Amino acid sequence: MKGLILSGGKGTRLRPLTFTQAKQLVPVANKPVLFYGIEALVGAGIREIGIIVGDTRTEIRGAVGDGRRWGDDVRITYIEQPEPLGLAHAVLIAEEFLGREPFVMYLGDNILKSGIVSLVDSFRERKPNALILLTPVPNPQIFGVAELENGKVVRLVEKPREPKSNLALVGVYMFDSHIFEAVRAIKPSWRNELEITDAIQFLVDHGYEVQPHLVAGWWKDTGKIEDILEANRLILETISGLVEGAVDEATRVSGEVIIEKGASVRSSTIRGPAIIGAGTEIADSYIGPFTSIQKNCRIVKTEIEHSIVLEGSEIVDVGSRIDESLIGREVRIYKCPPKPLAYRFMVGDKSEIGLK
Ligand code: TTP
Repeated sequence: MKGLILSGGKGTRLRPLTFTQAKQLVPVANKPVLFYGIEALVGAGIREIGIIVGDTRTEIRGAVGDGRRWGDDVRITYIEQPEPLGLAHAVLIAEEFLGREPFVMYLGDNILKSGIVSLVDSFRERKPNALILLTPVPNPQIFGVAELENGKVVRLVEKPREPKSNLALVGVYMFDSHIFEAVRAIKPSWRNELEITDAIQFLVDHGYEVQPHLVAGWWKDTGKIEDILEANRLILETISGLVEGAVDEATRVSGEVIIEKGASVRSSTIRGPAIIGAGTEIADSYIGPFTSIQKNCRIVKTEIEHSIVLEGSEIVDVGSRIDESLIGREVRIYKCPPKPLAYRFMVGDKSEIGLK
């Protein structure tokens, strides 16, 4: 069995971050989102993984490498998608890599708490033509939704106005080689993409067996900023504290806190769960729960919680508490001189700033 991870796409909903960075490499608890997907596949015994890449190919290759860091026998093959023409298009161009074997398709910006072992086991046992991962949601109108009859999938509807089911499609699917017949047959949608929901509907309509599989535990699609913060919270809830950096006597650390080697914390309060990356300096500050600070940052005289700060950023002397924020790489936030009483901004395109 092979794995296919989709790590191309446009990432428009994550601008401005995605102007300069692949959205699949945005860190959650200081680890790129994409690595959670690779680990899920490796954890289910999959050793040959194809990664679909687009404009951010160089960055993704640089971060992931050949796969050996996940095991001597893990091999990663990169598959170039010239344009993000849809999830089903990604399957179409991966046919040579996938061959006739069944495979797991995993969206590179998704995180599943319980991994995919039970999904893969159930595919092996029941041998349907497709197995799709579903989860009940309170607001099915904004998802792709599956309708079931007698334990089988009979219809898939994208963002239904009047949903007949509350089962949303999670970004993980399993297929046998009949999916290639489907992705070749379907036509692009109104948004000019080959939709995977259309390909699965094709399977249903042509008598192939499409079965549902319900997710155990939480699932997060990190395509939007609030979802990244939520995924960060959910992952940090599971960490165990480990202090390897330098922490002075005037600092109080409580709860599960990871302070990586080479980080230094002075005269501060760190209330976990939180993670402080290597080479980061924290002084006279409060780092509250559900905060991930990546490496080589500097946080001085600042209070921050429920936030993510990416590498190389500096936050100094901010008067009030920073909350629910995602701060990019090498950002500087600092206090202006007292006069004139004014804000000073140098902010890139599509940024967002909330003032009190
Ligand atoms: P989406 O989040 O649906 O699409 P997107 O990345 O273009 O984002 P946005 O809507 O914010 O513009 O994609 C889900 C995953 O699949 C994501 O990891 C990107 C990847 N993908 C591809 O690799 N190729 C594609 O053609 C598409 C549409 C997505």
